[in-house]
Amino acid sequence: MLRTISKTNSSTPQPDKPAKKKLVVSSLPPRQVIGRLLTYLQPYRRRMFLTICIYVVCVTIAQFYPFIDRILIDNYIAVKFIDQGFYVVVIGAVILHAINMAGFMARSLSITRISQDLLFDLRSQLFHHVERLSFNFHEQWPVGKTMSRFLSDVSTLNDFLTNQIAMLFHDAASAVIIIILMFVIDPGMALVALITLPILVIAAATLRPRIHEGWEVVREYNTRFNIFLAENISGMRVIQAFVREATNYKQFRSSNDTLVRSWLDVTNLSARLGPIVEITRAAGLAAVLYVASYQIGLTTTLTVGTLVAFTSYINALWGPISTFTNVYLVLQATMASAEKIFELLDTLPKVMDAPNASVMPPVKGSITLDHVAFSYDGTRNVLHDIDLNIEAGQLVALVGQTGSGKTTISSLINRFYDVTGGRVLIDGHDIRSVTQKSLHSQIAVVMQEPFIFTDTIFNNIRYGRPDATLAEVIEAAKMANCHDFLSQLSEGYETLAHERGSQFSGGQRQLISIARAILADTPILVLDEATSAVDTQTEMLIQEALERLMKGRTAIVIAHRLSTIRKASQIVVLKEGKIVEIGNHESLVNMPGGYYARLCRAQMVGEH
Ligand SMILES: Nc1ncnc2c1ncn2[C@@H]1O[C@H](COP(=O)(O)OP(=O)(O)O)[C@@H](O)[C@H]1O
Ligand SMILES: [Mg+2]
Repeated sequence: MLRTISKTNSSTPQPDKPAKKKLVVSSLPPRQVIGRLLTYLQPYRRRMFLTICIYVVCVTIAQFYPFIDRILIDNYIAVKFIDQGFYVVVIGAVILHAINMAGFMARSLSITRISQDLLFDLRSQLFHHVERLSFNFHEQWPVGKTMSRFLSDVSTLNDFLTNQIAMLFHDAASAVIIIILMFVIDPGMALVALITLPILVIAAATLRPRIHEGWEVVREYNTRFNIFLAENISGMRVIQAFVREATNYKQFRSSNDTLVRSWLDVTNLSARLGPIVEITRAAGLAAVLYVASYQIGLTTTLTVGTLVAFTSYINALWGPISTFTNVYLVLQATMASAEKIFELLDTLPKVMDAPNASVMPPVKGSITLDHVAFSYDGTRNVLHDIDLNIEAGQLVALVGQTGSGKTTISSLINRFYDVTGGRVLIDGHDIRSVTQKSLHSQIAVVMQEPFIFTDTIFNNIRYGRPDATLAEVIEAAKMANCHDFLSQLSEGYETLAHERGSQFSGGQRQLISIARAILADTPILVLDEATSAVDTQTEMLIQEALERLMKGRTAIVIAHRLSTIRKASQIVVLKEGKIVEIGNHESLVNMPGGYYARLCRAQMVGEH
């Protein structure tokens, strides 16, 4: 069921794109969501049960305090008679208090441990799932949105599954015990004390839907805030370079402001419950005192001790009661977070291993694209009827204008997406019939924007082969022409790379990622514009490294520089998703009107 919330803080403009749309909040039947949520407690059911038992015991003990006061007042203080019995009761009270304190410590520790274990499980499950999701998911979901699931939503669920559930048991137990004790002490008075309760219940029920809606709005703005934040922090260089600080700061303040307002709106609503709880509590107390003023002295049952006990009980009872009025709200927040997390967990990867997928044996590296067609969005084809045969060990160059489909072809060979028509074969295996793991482990990719992780250079180079030794890493680095500058770093290969390797130049990052590919030692290699955007000196280093790397492997190279392309066994020229020229340098260089011929002429002119 989808519901549109029109109630937005329209007074402030929204910085992020989705804010221009209306908020769409989905809601599943709560019972379904809670059922699924409780499965997360399954592994901890014994500890949870024990904790709840401790809660109930503590609560019971605590509710006996007014009862004890009543005995002390009526039997000893009011009649001015103190004997041994008085001290026995006092010592008994002290012992009960000690037990209660011990129980309090035990349950806090226990709840914290369950809670931490549960957080661990939830986060691990989410990460494991996100790792399996295909490229199209990561292209469509902003990082900030995924982060929101890991941070705010996971902690809301955790809070519910541990604190809230335990609190509920705690409060339900206290309420039941207090009401029983009140009836045991004086049934008539108990009825008087509870007379204002229905008013509170009705008030809470009327405010509920509005508060619910308010929380959903908060959640949505929170996600948008996170998306905005994540994007702005990772794009900070561009922000600074284009002097966008002031504009973005304004947008940030507006997003921040919307978030704060939505919080205030909903807390305003919830705050209305507070006075109602207070008024009904005070009215209950007044009713008891009023009735008592008539009865004290007239009846033998109502004593000063009973009155003192009753006032304590009314005060104690309104705590759990106000919690109950809030339970629904807490549940709503939990439901909203749970649904968002389940939405993510239920998103299936578009590319999945076939149920009977086999492990692709080590391949020689022949690749066939058989009438391949592909569309990203299901409507516009970006590749049409691509037929290409690459023999094992061949070097194939893909050339063509930006947007002609080169990167798409390399992504399809990696099966980052599934073809929409035709098939891709590697050594005769349709890549959809083998496991992605066995496929990916035989293809190394060097991308235009190599990704360096916040880790040592050593670990970054052996990313695809975590068991490689330092000697092997150094050997790969030497082949990749990056040993010279890496060994000059203050801590050599143990130097920690900054996020995305920002302390290295583009060319250096490229060389590191080539070393990574060399070490991965796969029969197939895909290089997507690995040599573009670097200076001639670095290009020569990369060129040399690539030649060593490509030896004995099937290599698909996307490049613009002739020096890289001309040695290719096949040069494939793409235009608007179709192969328009194919052949080696000699056969294409003089083709009248050919794209490659033009490319050669342009670069030869440039070289002289
Ligand atoms: N992730 C994507 N989602 C939708 N369309 C895409 C995506 N990536 C590329 N395209 C489109 O597919 C076409 C081919 O892109 P691409 O293969 O990246 O070209 P090239 O690498 O030759 O520059 C382009 O029209 C581009 O707009
Ligand atoms: Mg590209």
